[in-house]
Amino acid sequence: MAEVVIASVDEALESIRKTRQVRLYVEGDVTEEQLHQLLEIARWTGSSRNTQPWRFVVIQNKETLAQLASLRENITWVADAALAIGLVSPGVNPPHEAYDEGRVTERLLIAARMLGLGAGTAWFGEPEREAQAKALLNVPEEKTLRCIVAIGPYVTSKDPRPTGPKPGRLSLDELVYWEKM
Ligand SMILES: Cc1cc2nc3c(=O)[nH]c(=O)nc-3n(C[C@H](O)[C@H](O)[C@H](O)COP(=O)(O)O)c2cc1C
Repeated sequence: MAEVVIASVDEALESIRKTRQVRLYVEGDVTEEQLHQLLEIARWTGSSRNTQPWRFVVIQNKETLAQLASLRENITWVADAALAIGLVSPGVNPPHEAYDEGRVTERLLIAARMLGLGAGTAWFGEPEREAQAKALLNVPEEKTLRCIVAIGPYVTSKDPRPTGPKPGRLSLDELVYWEKM
């Protein structure tokens, strides 16, 4: 995928609107410069009371990516990404931390798209799988590692899985209420 050049506000907005979950990656690199840009974007995300609860584990080792991908059927595609960033939280305030992780994730997805890369969030889902992921990444047991964000050169943002969720979105008519619900 070629780099997406943002020349106007409309193009920037379109880039955000068109950001999708990517699950089909190809061989290729995320350059050091791109990785640095992505980590800076993550670092500057807002958080509850500016606590910046996250720590970012950059995973580039193919074997580790494959081991993480094997923990859950829904995240096997992680194995083909150039890298992943594990989002580690303290595990003291789950609602706030989950919200903050969501904000970081979305920024990473958008920034990746703007860099011409794909990105997707992969959740471990159950405590047992999360514990296995933490063990693989040396994350202390008491911390939270709900998800990782896979990033890399990609083929398409179409979901290759036959059983994936229905694509598309509800219309604004279905979503928006004016003044009162
Ligand atoms: C909390 C959360 C957990 C998700 N976990 C996974 C996952 O484990 N595996 C996966 O393939 N997609 C996962 N997704 C991606 C969703 O399936 C995706 O956001 C949704 O289908 C919309 O995709 P689109 O933006 O490409 O249309 C997750 C998304 C969220 C918000």
